[in-house]
Amino acid sequence: VVNRVYDYFRYHPMSEITEWMNQIVKDYPALVTRVEYGMTYEKRTISLLKIGLNTGAKKYIVWMDCGIHANEWIAPAFCQYFVNQILQSYKTDAKIKRMMKNLDFYVTPVLNVDGYIYSWKDNTTRQWRKNRRPGHSPGCYGTDLDRNFDVNWGMFTPLGASFNCSSDMFCGTSPASEPEVEAVTNFIKSQRANILSFLTIHSYGQMILLPYGDPNETVHNYEGLMKLGQDAAEAIWKVRGQNYTVGATSDVLYPISGLPRDLARMQGIPFCFTFVLRDNGTFSYQLPENQIQPACEEAYSGVLHIITYAHNQIYSGAVAATAATLWTLLLAAGVTLM
Ligand SMILES: *[C@@H]1O[C@H](CO)[C@@H](O)[C@H](O)[C@H]1NC(C)=O
Ligand SMILES: *[C@@H]1O[C@H](CO)[C@@H](O)[C@H](O)[C@H]1NC(C)=O
Ligand SMILES: *[C@@H]1O[C@H](CO)[C@@H](O)[C@H](O)[C@H]1NC(C)=O
Ligand SMILES: *[C@@H]1O[C@H](CO)[C@@H](O)[C@H](O)[C@H]1NC(C)=O
Ligand SMILES: *[C@@H]1O[C@H](CO)[C@@H](O)[C@H](O)[C@H]1NC(C)=O
Ligand SMILES: [Zn+2]
Repeated sequence: VVNRVYDYFRYHPMSEITEWMNQIVKDYPALVTRVEYGMTYEKRTISLLKIGLNTGAKKYIVWMDCGIHANEWIAPAFCQYFVNQILQSYKTDAKIKRMMKNLDFYVTPVLNVDGYIYSWKDNTTRQWRKNRRPGHSPGCYGTDLDRNFDVNWGMFTPLGASFNCSSDMFCGTSPASEPEVEAVTNFIKSQRANILSFLTIHSYGQMILLPYGDPNETVHNYEGLMKLGQDAAEAIWKVRGQNYTVGATSDVLYPISGLPRDLARMQGIPFCFTFVLRDNGTFSYQLPENQIQPACEEAYSGVLHIITYAHNQIYSGAVAATAATLWTLLLAAGVTLM
């Protein structure tokens, strides 16, 4: 099977990641399907792996996207590692088995496919962050997909977004102007009642960020989400002593507009977090391959903490809850997130 030959601790170009996705589907036909849910600006398919046991019952969704920023190569590496971990431990780990029964994981290894392919072209383009839509002045390319969502779009310039198409944080010409953003937005809006947790993976800076990018908004149940984030950071610290900073994006960084995580939260999805992986400035985006394994192992521990917590809010004991809406369930569980 692929897992014996695929090296999770190297960076892989898009063609290999696509082959890997197909191989995973072949290796785990009862658990994994590939879902195509959008097209990039350059007309490439965006796809995710849907992972879970087909029980016939209603299932909640854990969303994870990687590689919205093309230069953050550790993020796609993490998504692949995550998929492999849950599939490998499914047989032996009772906790993972229960989650596979109750949840579906929707994992997009590379969201910004065009940008990721471009970032592989040579050493200098490894810095490339945005998608590849041509801008309105000659020679300027790319929209920052992570500033293009329809949440406070175009606000908090120049630090938290930019209208300059040469800027790395160019927010596009209008909210959700980019096809990649439209694809994720459609998914969130159509599945909003079923998504339990929305996780988006970035580098670098070692942070666990909760909503919002808007400094004037405080997320409901801020204390509860902070505690959850801090517990996840502690789980990360226990792996190799790495410190992760926890807080709302606007507190830890600065005000930022157009974030998918904030859209997800505003659509009522309870557990929305941004994970910003290694390192903390030494190699920055160019994290060497010998750090992929430690970075993935520690981040896995933090992510799993949040997913497990979210899962346990809904499913306690051996009996899966079947009530009508996520909110009913969460309120019944004493979670006041709204
Ligand atoms: C640049 O690319 C070459 C050839 O792929 C590789 O050998 C070299 O290590 C790269 N340098 C950096 C700094 O990434
Ligand atoms: C736009 O951004 C580019 C790259 O950061 C910069 O060189 C240029 O001066 C900016 N233009 C304006 C009008 O701010
Ligand atoms: C935030 O609130 C302050 C004080 O009420 C107000 O002056 C400012 O315009 C608000 N900013 C945003 C982005 O809403
Ligand atoms: C993490 O933070 C603790 C407490 O501030 C500090 O003692 C430790 O050196 C930090 N670890 C790393 C790897 O920076
Ligand atoms: C990362 O480095 C910055 C700047 O040196 C520092 O302020 C911050 O506390 C560090 N974060 C972590 C998680 O170690
Ligand atoms: Zn990023």
